[in-house]
Amino acid sequence: MLAEIDADRLEDQFLRIQREIDSVFDAFLPVTNEPRARLIEAMRYAAIGSGKRIRPLLLVGTAEIFGVHRDAALRAACAIEAIHVYSLIHDDLPCMDDDDMRHGKPTVHKAFDQATAVLAGDALHALAFEILTDRATSNDPFSSAEMVETLARASGMSGMAGGQMMDMAAVGAAFDLRTVTRLQQLKTGALLAAAVEMGAILGRVAPEGRAHLRAYARDIGLAFQIADDLLDHEGDPKRTGKAVRKDEGQGKATFVSLMGADKAREQADALVEQAIGHLAGHGDEAWLLRALARFIVERDR
Ligand code: IPE
Ligand code: IPE
Ligand code: MG
Ligand code: MG
Ligand code: MG
Repeated sequence: MLAEIDADRLEDQFLRIQREIDSVFDAFLPVTNEPRARLIEAMRYAAIGSGKRIRPLLLVGTAEIFGVHRDAALRAACAIEAIHVYSLIHDDLPCMDDDDMRHGKPTVHKAFDQATAVLAGDALHALAFEILTDRATSNDPFSSAEMVETLARASGMSGMAGGQMMDMAAVGAAFDLRTVTRLQQLKTGALLAAAVEMGAILGRVAPEGRAHLRAYARDIGLAFQIADDLLDHEGDPKRTGKAVRKDEGQGKATFVSLMGADKAREQADALVEQAIGHLAGHGDEAWLLRALARFIVERDR
């Protein structure tokens, strides 16, 4: 369980990062009065003012361990959040999950239209890489290139997009636990792992020194998706801000459908303890990563 004192500390961190990410997006997405204004409005609608900002907090929490300047970490965090927001806009489209509500308000294609939603996703995807290659994010070209490579791989066919393809194929398919695990690692785990990896890249940690962070990220990635499946199974849409009980309705193989809710919860808890174990070599400077691991399975939204 997340101790009360850490829960308060974590709440402060969430409020802080939400404010900071909103303000970075606000600066990157200036309101204009011209024919493409609708695109920027849709990007702002999706990117500003909502979302838990778990990926940004993972990135900043990792970067902090290695003494990275907060402004640089925030920009990289905004890049990864831009990919996440784009993935949600497209995930909600009628050709994918066909959802009407996200973050407690109409999805982008409902509030605007489908063409605008597709373009807002495309433009956020591109914005992510524009931010990463900006010298204000990192003035070391090797770090920039490594962050671009990490985020590109986590977003594309070997990451989120590949996982989304498997997720579409999961409807009515008899996927076993191995296949569902791989699906989730790509769909959700890859981007969460990239957040941790990018924090370490900014901290100039050599690849050999990142093994324990990767192990942490792999465990929380899986735990995160088990929690998302549990929320779909038994969550309250007033809290999640999105429709629930969709996976069952579609006959989608998930951790919950394969293991049952109780076993799935046990598995998520075990993964979190294992994730925290990987941080044993760090002291209090890794408190945020430990608290986030616990939050990921205890959350109700
Ligand atoms: C939801 O992710 C979508 C998945 C990857 C399962 P989050 O729960 O991190 O989304 P927000 O941004 O906080 O709403
Ligand atoms: C979406 O997974 C994951 C993405 C890569 C966007 P879900 O379809 O389970 O996410 P929710 O439940 O709609 O947030
Ligand atoms: Mg989906
Ligand atoms: Mg969905
Ligand atoms: Mg879901």
